[in-house]
Amino acid sequence: MRASSFFIFLSTVARVLGDVEPFFNDDAFDKGEYGPYPSQSYHSSKIVSPRLNVLKHDRECSPLYTMITPRGNHVRDPMAMIMDADGHLVWGKGGYGQVYNLQVQQYKGKPYLTFWAGDDTVGGHGAGYYHMLDSTYKEVYRLKAAGGLGGDLHEFRITEKGTALLSVYEVDKGDLSSLGGSSNGKIWDCLVQEIDIETGALLFEWHAAKHFAAASSPKQIGGDGGASVFGKPYDYYHMNSIDKDPKGNYLVSSRYMKSVTYIDGKTGNVIWVLGGDQNSFTDLSGGAATNFAYQHDATWQDNYTTITLFDNAAAEGQPSVHDYSRGLRIRLDQQAMTAELVTEYLNPTRVRAISQGSLQVVENGNVFLGYGNSGAFTEFAENGTVLCDTHMGPQAWFGGGDIQSYRAFKYDWHGYPTTKPDSKIVYGEGLTYFVSWNGATEVKRWILQGAVDPEVKDDQWAYVNDTAKTGFETSMELHEDCPRYIRCLALDSKNKVLSVTEIFDTEQEKIWDLPPVQVEDNDTVLLKFLIVFAGVTGVVVGLREAVTSKRKLRLINWTPQWIGHPNYQPV
Ligand SMILES: *[C@@H]1O[C@H](CO)[C@@H](O)[C@H](O)[C@H]1NC(C)=O
Ligand SMILES: *[C@@H]1O[C@H](CO)[C@@H](O)[C@H](O)[C@H]1NC(C)=O
Ligand SMILES: *[C@@H]1O[C@H](CO)[C@@H](O)[C@H](O)[C@H]1NC(C)=O
Ligand SMILES: *[C@@H]1O[C@H](CO)[C@@H](O)[C@H](O)[C@H]1NC(C)=O
Repeated sequence: MRASSFFIFLSTVARVLGDVEPFFNDDAFDKGEYGPYPSQSYHSSKIVSPRLNVLKHDRECSPLYTMITPRGNHVRDPMAMIMDADGHLVWGKGGYGQVYNLQVQQYKGKPYLTFWAGDDTVGGHGAGYYHMLDSTYKEVYRLKAAGGLGGDLHEFRITEKGTALLSVYEVDKGDLSSLGGSSNGKIWDCLVQEIDIETGALLFEWHAAKHFAAASSPKQIGGDGGASVFGKPYDYYHMNSIDKDPKGNYLVSSRYMKSVTYIDGKTGNVIWVLGGDQNSFTDLSGGAATNFAYQHDATWQDNYTTITLFDNAAAEGQPSVHDYSRGLRIRLDQQAMTAELVTEYLNPTRVRAISQGSLQVVENGNVFLGYGNSGAFTEFAENGTVLCDTHMGPQAWFGGGDIQSYRAFKYDWHGYPTTKPDSKIVYGEGLTYFVSWNGATEVKRWILQGAVDPEVKDDQWAYVNDTAKTGFETSMELHEDCPRYIRCLALDSKNKVLSVTEIFDTEQEKIWDLPPVQVEDNDTVLLKFLIVFAGVTGVVVGLREAVTSKRKLRLINWTPQWIGHPNYQPV
């Protein structure tokens, strides 16, 4: 018996529209009415990306791409991800386990996408590798920490000299008796490693535990630090950022010491400490320049005269200092040993991040804050005025870790994937062709072409339709008389053809991934099924047989003919 060619398919709530726009100032989003992680999926790609809620948008915001690493309780495949300034997906890559800290960094004069990936279940830090992808998304370097230790997720900074600064965690012994623990307790020591990117050779190493006694940490020890095999090491220091200045000295942020330490690059000695119990500075701002806590991402700015950082002010299981997190720009006078708050960056809804977070001074001088555990990022003018404010998850659920991104950054990027664009046909009320190209930043236009024979020469492919690329996935309706074989060309702003999709046979039976539902063969009957999908999404329409048989009739007289298009140049 001939296999049936009836198929049933589903059209989701988003129907066959391609990209949807982000939400704009949507109250229901932030109340959690769309769930803990409103996301978007695509027809031509398996990537799931956040569907953002844009609360505020200003033309003064940087037009550059946003680099995030969505993960969390409700993120099935954590990814390194690029979004455009309008909130559309540009590139996503998962399959690494956990992903943290996507940035664009320069190495030997070329831009690389850099990120950490690995295991973050060790307890607030990670054991993994540092990845460097070139502009074709090829992984050119995969770095590891020196000494056989796991590379930690917190820092991977490429210096102007072409070396890499890495944070590394290692279990050590510590005297915790003054904290009520064991005199032979277990602690997490934190290491700065500077390595040579080409050879992996260790150029510098610094151990926090050699300079800061575990017993001097204000972090509540709880039941940690026990000497037994099963005891959890006391994470007393928790290094989470490393920077380096032209003098060769290091700037290290410690979450639990609530301080930033300046370290001599030759001797490893502590030169000064900003904030925390061992603060070396006179605070000219009445405490506001040094009362940060559980902070992240301490970075030199303004020709090494100021430091910016993300002040969490809160941490899980520890006393809060403020009700909300802030960005800080702090001016230091290293002769007079004074610290002064220059600007405070306050989120309009006072988002509080109990972990993670970042502060970046963007190319145009704006200040971009990522709220880590709370799925939000906000862009400020240098003077602290809020320009743009975006949520990846509902504010009502912040603190639950459903959708997080360790840091968030804005960078320029030009991506030239070596893969072909992805395409798919969806049979809804009509036929819709979907096309996307993961990571391709230069596509401006898609041209759909058709042929009756897939083997015809390039110039025999006829123009069918064209459309500007909008968002990640672009859709085009296919009319009943469209040729059997179709493909799509990707054109850049100069109308140069960048790539072409696989050829699609619109009459092939296996055109979607859903397992076809087989029904008794019955050529005399046109069958319509209605399936209520999971009681939620609904609408199932589908009469492929009807559609294709109509098309077949029309195609008998269809002659491939080059119609041409003003914007088209043959491949
Ligand atoms: C940065 O500071 C150094 C040392 O104070 C100075 O020599 C240099 O000219 C400054 N550079 C710029 C661009 O201001
Ligand atoms: C701060 O910057 C914004 C944006 O550039 C500007 O509109 C505003 O006037 C500035 N505010 C002050 C107090 O300078
Ligand atoms: C081209 O695609 C658009 C968008 O889907 C559709 O509205 C239009 O009818 C198509 N035109 C042709 C000639 O197929
Ligand atoms: C299939 O066709 C037969 C007649 O050839 C008809 O009796 C039967 O109802 C049809 N089946 C369905 C599912 O419509």
